[in-house]
This record gives sequence, structure tokens and C-alpha cells, in this order.
Amino acid sequence: MELDILRKKLELEKYPIILKDTEEFFRNFILDNKIKSILEIGCNVGFSSIFFKTLNVSVTTFEKDILIYELAKLNYNDFGFDTREIILHDCTVPYELDKKYDLLFIDAAKASYLKFFINFEKNLKVNGYLVCDNMNLHGIRVDDLKRNKRRMAKRLASFRDFMEGNKNYEVSFLEIGDGLLLAKRLNI
Ligand SMILES: C[S@@+](CC[C@H](N)C(=O)[O-])C[C@H]1O[C@@H](n2cnc3c(N)ncnc32)[C@H](O)[C@@H]1O
Repeated sequence: MELDILRKKLELEKYPIILKDTEEFFRNFILDNKIKSILEIGCNVGFSSIFFKTLNVSVTTFEKDILIYELAKLNYNDFGFDTREIILHDCTVPYELDKKYDLLFIDAAKASYLKFFINFEKNLKVNGYLVCDNMNLHGIRVDDLKRNKRRMAKRLASFRDFMEGNKNYEVSFLEIGDGLLLAKRLNI
């Protein structure tokens, strides 16, 4: 199958995959920065990880929902990719993984970004990059949201503040897709 065909199919079926702009950002970023390995939190049905793999990047990806995880494996099979690097796990819980990656991509439950970062920072190389998707809440003010969404927005905002104050990272925010946090891990 071709990637664009998979995108169209998944968009029609309303799967929450990375936006096209975000895909284009990654295509350039991966080439420009010679990214060879990515650890992804939030596999969903495998679109973004399949995309990374088509750029010859080795990917380990986590998904917590067993039904979605099974669908991701089917999509990997369609592209002829090995499914062993899709890991069924809830990333709010620490996971023993020794490998270090060039890029950590966080694209799962927004309220848990800080937990994901704490649990998986150990797997990011010095001089590697952290990218977090969905940093914008489509311009909605926290005060205007319903209670559970408000809690999620507050947690996302406090993750943003935490990263901005984190001296081990050079942090920027990009108005790409639904808003990306890009942070380089410094050699400190
Ligand atoms: C926005 S989707 C990921 C989209 C995917 N990166 C793509 O672009 O193709 C988020 C996924 O994260 C998963 N997720 C949410 N919380 C998680 C957790 N605590 N651990 C692992 N996966 C989680 C959800 O089940 C969902 O499938």
C-alpha cells in the first residue's frame, strides 16, 4: 500500500493521525538532522510510525489500547514491516527499555505529557530531539472549556511551562499542524 492511500483511508475513518503539515515537517526535519531512530508514544493504528519507517528510520512505538494495537499490526503487515517494535503498554507506567533514540515523539493523551516525558527521557540521546504534537488547543481559552477538558488543558500548559524552564533543553514552539513543541536535549 502507499502512504497517501493509507492517510486518505484513515482520515475518512476519522483516526487521529498526524496532520499533513506535521508529516511534511518531519520529512524535512528527519533528513536535515540525520535522524535514524525514533521512540514514539502514541502509535494509534500506525500511520506516523509507518511514515517514519518509509524514511528508513528505525521506530519503537507504544500503544495502550489493545484493539488499536492489533489494527496497527495489520497496517504494518500491509507495508511489509516487522511488528515487533509496536509495544502494547500504558506509557504513564515506566517501561524497561535500554535503547537510546535520536528523537522522542510524544503524541498520546495530552494530560499525561509530563509523565511520558519523565518515564522516557532516559531513552533520548544527548543532542537528540523531543517533539510533542497537539500543543495548541485550537486557540481555546482554558476558562472556556468543560471541566475534564479544562484539567487536560491545565496539565498541558504546565507541561509547556515545565519544558520552557528546563535548562537541559533548548525549546521552541512551532505553529505547524496542531502546534508542535520542539526541544533539543543539550549536553549539560
Ligand atoms: C493521536 S493518537 C496517535 C497518532 C499517531 N501518532 C499517528 O500520527 O498515526 C494517540 C494514541 O495514543 C494512545 N495513548 C493514549 N494514552 C496512552 C498511554 N498512556 N500510553 C500509550 N498510548 C496511549 C491512544 O490510544 C491513541 O491511539
